[in-house]
Amino acid sequence: MRAIVHTRYARTDNLELRELPIPSPKPGEVLVRVHATSMHADIWHLVNGRPYFLRLMGAGLFGPGGKIPGTDLSGVVEAVGSSVTRFKQGDAIFGETTRSHQWSHGGAFADYAVAPAHKLALKPATLSFVEAAALPTSGLIACQATFDEGAVKAGDAVLVNGAAGAVGLFALQLCKDAGAVVTAVDGSAKLEALRQAGADAVLDYTVMDYTAGEDRYDLVIDIPGNHPIKRCLGVLKPWGRYVYIGHDGYGATGGRWIGSMARFLRLWLVQWLRGQRPRFPPAPDYPKRLAMLGRLAADGRLRPRVGRVLALDHVPEALRCLEQGAVEGKIVVEVAPPAQ
Ligand SMILES: NC(=O)c1ccc[n+]([C@@H]2O[C@H](COP(=O)([O-])OP(=O)(O)OC[C@H]3O[C@@H](n4cnc5c(N)ncnc54)[C@H](OP(=O)(O)O)[C@@H]3O)[C@@H](O)[C@H]2O)c1
Repeated sequence: MRAIVHTRYARTDNLELRELPIPSPKPGEVLVRVHATSMHADIWHLVNGRPYFLRLMGAGLFGPGGKIPGTDLSGVVEAVGSSVTRFKQGDAIFGETTRSHQWSHGGAFADYAVAPAHKLALKPATLSFVEAAALPTSGLIACQATFDEGAVKAGDAVLVNGAAGAVGLFALQLCKDAGAVVTAVDGSAKLEALRQAGADAVLDYTVMDYTAGEDRYDLVIDIPGNHPIKRCLGVLKPWGRYVYIGHDGYGATGGRWIGSMARFLRLWLVQWLRGQRPRFPPAPDYPKRLAMLGRLAADGRLRPRVGRVLALDHVPEALRCLEQGAVEGKIVVEVAPPAQ
């Protein structure tokens, strides 16, 4: 099979298209014929090896060891490992390939990939493979921020900062679907897209600072985290929730060692000093959340915004586009074009 192989931590010239044997599914795993896969920020971090602490967290201390990047996929089940009962050969599915946390390559940039069965869901027939591949990681992070940490409910006033990015656009739509009133913050060129996605109000971050306004929110979902924490907490109603996602601008704004983790640590300290007990969010209920994302997308209540579709041998170009912010919407890699 064809696969993109990561040879060393570096910005460029570290990904090669090679021929490799097709992997075999272990117990609890599914072998997928990959139709499409998508790019996200953590793939960039793993390919670059930055921030450095992720190398300790499963990426590989001295190098990536020739592994295959990619975590999100859609495709067709080729074979199932023992104890897998939810899927059978020929099922169209979508989901994630990583076994535990996100700080490791998942092997999705290939003709075939294995994925844990509990991180897959059946693909709704009305959803294309390209659309389905755009859903998993960004959609799951948005679900976690909106429902698990954010506990959004109808009538809540929500602000999403960085709302036109992959996570933000899903969070905005999920909050609207839940009946919240959403203010979306992003750059001038993206405000129309935010209105079309259902935002009740839009703010241009290049001319307005949302933390300086009079409005107060039940929930703030903050992707870039570009204001001091105290000012972000200051726009909350007394019972309001602040959910920080974290974005280091592909190495531009975060430190080399721990990236945007530094802000998490400051946030936890501030919350602890205020008598709150910060905690890591629990792992998502993958089958439930993926099925929900698929259903909402099939019903047209959640629209994955696909900005560009590239072929497998264009993964290095796709990563450069991601880093440069050259594409609005999700970059999807189509591995096997649909049969005519
Ligand atoms: N998406 C995923 O699947 C995924 C996976 C794993 C982890 N994550 C985590 O989630 C983070 C967010 O990911 P993402 O995919 O949503 O990022 P993204 O697609 O790059 O979106 C970030 C958005 O924030 C905007 N922004 C930048 N500076 C801003 C500011 N000062 N005020 C308001 N908005 C600003 C960006 O606009 P500009 O173009 O103007 O800069 C962009 O629209 C990542 O860094 C990563 O740590 C995401």
